[in-house]
Amino acid sequence: MISWDALFSERAKLIKGSAIRELLKLVNQPDIISLGGGMPDPRLFPVERIRECVNDVLTNNAPTALGYGTTEGVPALRALLAEMSVDRGIRATAENVVVTASSQQALDLIAKVMLDPGDIALVEAPSYLGALQAFSAFQGQCIAIDMDHDGIRIDILEDRLKTLRQANKSIKFIYVVPSFQNPTGLTMSVERRRQLLVISEQYNIPIVEDHPYHALRYQGERVPSIASMDSNGHVVYMETFSKILSPGLRIGWVIGPEVFVRKLALAKQATDLCTSPFTQLIAYEFCKRGYMAEYVEVIRPEYKKKRDAMLEACAEFMPEGVKWTHPEGGMFLWVDCPKSIDTTAMLADSLAAKVAYVSGTSFYPDGRGENSIRLNFSFNPPEINREGIRRLAGVIKRHLQ
Ligand SMILES: Cc1ncc(COP(=O)(O)O)c(C=O)c1O
Repeated sequence: MISWDALFSERAKLIKGSAIRELLKLVNQPDIISLGGGMPDPRLFPVERIRECVNDVLTNNAPTALGYGTTEGVPALRALLAEMSVDRGIRATAENVVVTASSQQALDLIAKVMLDPGDIALVEAPSYLGALQAFSAFQGQCIAIDMDHDGIRIDILEDRLKTLRQANKSIKFIYVVPSFQNPTGLTMSVERRRQLLVISEQYNIPIVEDHPYHALRYQGERVPSIASMDSNGHVVYMETFSKILSPGLRIGWVIGPEVFVRKLALAKQATDLCTSPFTQLIAYEFCKRGYMAEYVEVIRPEYKKKRDAMLEACAEFMPEGVKWTHPEGGMFLWVDCPKSIDTTAMLADSLAAKVAYVSGTSFYPDGRGENSIRLNFSFNPPEINREGIRRLAGVIKRHLQ
């Protein structure tokens, strides 16, 4: 009998199961309302439009679609993604773009090319769980910097940078999700984005800007990406079609300095040779025909209704002492319960009450977040969000007694 555990690498031993993956299994149980996950509403997928694109790709481009592609991505899609970025103020040509199997792969590749064991990735507190997993899988050390309503706290970040530098630590990048953040739903203010860039330049540390939700704004003014404010090649920018079209296509992309993008492509070669040219061409057709802009206009008002229903239900049902964010877009709400509540321990009761969530500790690398909860509002219809919050509020009330 082979003892597999003994054979796993030190790196593999660090890889832990994800609370979210476990929760995704529950989505299929009809009596449980899942407010976990981070999925778009599958009832809104533009199936007919995609069918039309698939037919076009197979009719006109089958050899390319069904063959291997270049590691960097299908040239037409790379050019289009660069063009789309330029429209939003990001300086980029096709050479600055690498298409990935969605942004989770981009996070994995970024970790692969940047992090040696013990290297530091500075992240927001709380931060996207999948990024924490990707960075720690390469033995990077995630250090979480507190946020306030305007995003990452620059004063705390600077203090931390000074101490780490004094201790001769190797700090590789600052990872942020500045727009409608996963998990809090908060948006970093323009001023904070500027300050973050200044810090990045002062300390010569790149920013990794993960921007999957920016198109899902339901109120308020558009805030420019950090990458669009950068003129010195300090930002590695990531986007994905997962939240605005379909996570099943697995198409994301990274925009960065050419030297960085080339290294990423080399690392990707060893991972999967190339992202599926078939799905890249489908996404390309979808964008080229103007369907993307049209589709975002379809989902935005629907997601706004879902968010509003959740916010209204929170106001109606949550007991005193519970606070939650009021995101202007995206897919998530962050709930802070009174300190006496342990949301990980509470999950069993919550599942018994037929409502699921992700507890806050999943989003911190340092065990914080015990009394917090992340809620997703994009997946369920508004009335289900309302019922889910009613049930959850009941569970919290019982735990407060
Ligand atoms: C901030 C952030 N980055 C990356 C991802 C990964 O998404 P995908 O790999 O589907 O593009 C997610 C998904 O929830 C996310 O919220």
